[in-house]
Amino acid sequence: MQRNDRGHYTVPTAGLYPFQWNWDSALSALGFAHFDEARALTEIETLFAHQWPDGMVPHIIFHQPDDGYFPGPDVWGTDRPVPTSGITQPPVAGFALARICNRARDTGPVIERARALLPRIHAWHQWFFRTRDPEGTGLVAIIHPWESGRDNSVDWDDAFSRVPTEGVAPFKRRDITHANPAHRPTDAQYTRFIYLVQLFRSLGWDNARLHDASSFRMVDPGFNAILLRSCADLADLADALGEGEIARQSRAFAQRGIAAMEHLWNPALDQYACFDRVAGQLVDSPSIGGLLAAFCAIPPERARAVAGRIARLGTQARFMVPSHDPTRPEFDGKRYWRGPVWLIVNYMIADGLAAAGEHEVAQRIQTDSIRLIEESGFAEYYDPLTAEPCGGGSFTWTAAMVIEILNTRRVPA
Ligand code: DGY
Repeated sequence: MQRNDRGHYTVPTAGLYPFQWNWDSALSALGFAHFDEARALTEIETLFAHQWPDGMVPHIIFHQPDDGYFPGPDVWGTDRPVPTSGITQPPVAGFALARICNRARDTGPVIERARALLPRIHAWHQWFFRTRDPEGTGLVAIIHPWESGRDNSVDWDDAFSRVPTEGVAPFKRRDITHANPAHRPTDAQYTRFIYLVQLFRSLGWDNARLHDASSFRMVDPGFNAILLRSCADLADLADALGEGEIARQSRAFAQRGIAAMEHLWNPALDQYACFDRVAGQLVDSPSIGGLLAAFCAIPPERARAVAGRIARLGTQARFMVPSHDPTRPEFDGKRYWRGPVWLIVNYMIADGLAAAGEHEVAQRIQTDSIRLIEESGFAEYYDPLTAEPCGGGSFTWTAAMVIEILNTRRVPA
């Protein structure tokens, strides 16, 4: 983590990701907080210093020029004082800030800085419900796979095949000069990633228009669970800080959203699934997005079912939790979000399951996470069958999760 620290922000890993990423930073702050609370808060404050006037917090902040990454600021064209991307990422900051405050050793300064962050995080949550849930369903849509963080999930395959590719300017990928191309999204996926960026740019990054204009609108249970958990935790923090109106609104977002999550339960898969807002149907894809739903306060019988589903996946993979069901033909144990295990998602699922009383499965997930590090170091992600380290190395949030797990859970030897 210290090697990737650039002073007021942290890069996920040098080379492959040379800027500040939104959910990487918030989750990394949890790790920093164990040895430097002030530095942990700086990470989140830097992120929010680049919040857009409409409340959106961008997924990348391009603090310094670096040719080693594509797409850079010239492709996004967002016209910000410090260039940023124009889309967002899973809103873990509310959860992370609340947890850092709850555990603070140096309470005074932490609470003071949290007080300043609170309305900014709340504004981001309001932005989500205003611009990504225009019909008031209680759940928000992502409009680009990069927003989910699960860039090339099988969940998007059908919807993504409807995204056109005409008019995409020629480009040169940089990711595959840093990481094994077999671990990364395909060229065909990249062409569509860039199509959507160009489309949104042509609309002036006007969030009042982007949701309806996008041919990709997906209600992801994992993404929504993160948002709803952050709303619920921010409500508790706001109460503790005497910010009653933020608490009331945040709690209302969480309650309404958790009730709406029931529409994403797919009995055929025995787990939650994405809802394709353009096609108007649940997606037949047993991915980790539907298991990450357990990060928010879903009903106990649903948490039980998610735990059962993970326990069954545990008979097919050596390491929990594969990002896609290994029995499905699309499963690919090394390719980014089509099979590999990610420690950040493990951490969030285990946290939610433990809160729901599903301790056995939660413990197995934590133990597997540490076994992966022991076998394969601090990789970006891991093959769930072989533990092979995949993607980038020396990864900040993987290290942060290890610090977090070792300090907060009992992991049997
Ligand atoms: C990437 O470049 O791979 C990122 O996931 C996009 O944010």
